[in-house]
Amino acid sequence: MIEVIGLSAMKTVETLRPLRRTALVATAIALTVGVAADGVSYRRMADMLHLVVSSDRAAYSTKVVQRLTRDDPVLTASEYFEDESALPLPAQMFRFGAELVADETEELSYSLLSLYPINKKNGAGTELEEAGLQHVADHPDENFYGEEELGGERYFVAVYPDIAVAEACVHCHNGHKDSPRSDAKVGDVMGGVVIRIAMAPPPASDPGLD
Ligand code: HEC
Repeated sequence: MIEVIGLSAMKTVETLRPLRRTALVATAIALTVGVAADGVSYRRMADMLHLVVSSDRAAYSTKVVQRLTRDDPVLTASEYFEDESALPLPAQMFRFGAELVADETEELSYSLLSLYPINKKNGAGTELEEAGLQHVADHPDENFYGEEELGGERYFVAVYPDIAVAEACVHCHNGHKDSPRSDAKVGDVMGGVVIRIAMAPPPASDPGLD
């Protein structure tokens, strides 16, 4: 795992480690208000969020899409699910959830992006996102962590490699009419999950922290 972040983002308070419940409560509070609470670094918060969103995507893929389209084939899955009375693709379900979060807050966002997106909405939106996607493309077993300022707001950004784990990934992407790439192979990095967290300004009473 690589670290491409300033020290200021790594304010993990080691002394809180044994108090696991405290740390979890702090995480919940932090998620609500969009700041990293004492004891939870931005990186750890992003890692935990990534675990949740990628597990949801994997569960939908296996327990819904694979089961109903392959194991017990009663439906199809299609990008055009509305017209075709089909199941949405896992990447679409992922984006729908992310769009609901975006409706609620600007302090946290997540997305499934690529340097070669089928859906142009899923391209890099900032320089750091592009650098992060390039980094995970070049280093498939590393995550990327960084910070950037947008519109006067500082953000912690984490990018996690999204790998073509199955033949279906590359088959569909390579053959898709909107895909800029047609030579992906199983095991290649197809893109990355990007988690963005608005960073808290340093407390006024403690200006030395940042
Ligand atoms: C049946 C076709 C199909 C399959 C199978 C498929 N994808 Fe996709 N994928 C798509 C479509 C269509 C989108 C655009 C979804 C949207 O509207 O956001 C997409 C989006 C993505 C994106 C975001 C960038 C982009 O291209 O828009 C990534 C990364 C991605 N898929 C990776 C994968 C991986 C990894 C797998 C296998 C585990 C996979 N896909 C399987 C069709 C497919």
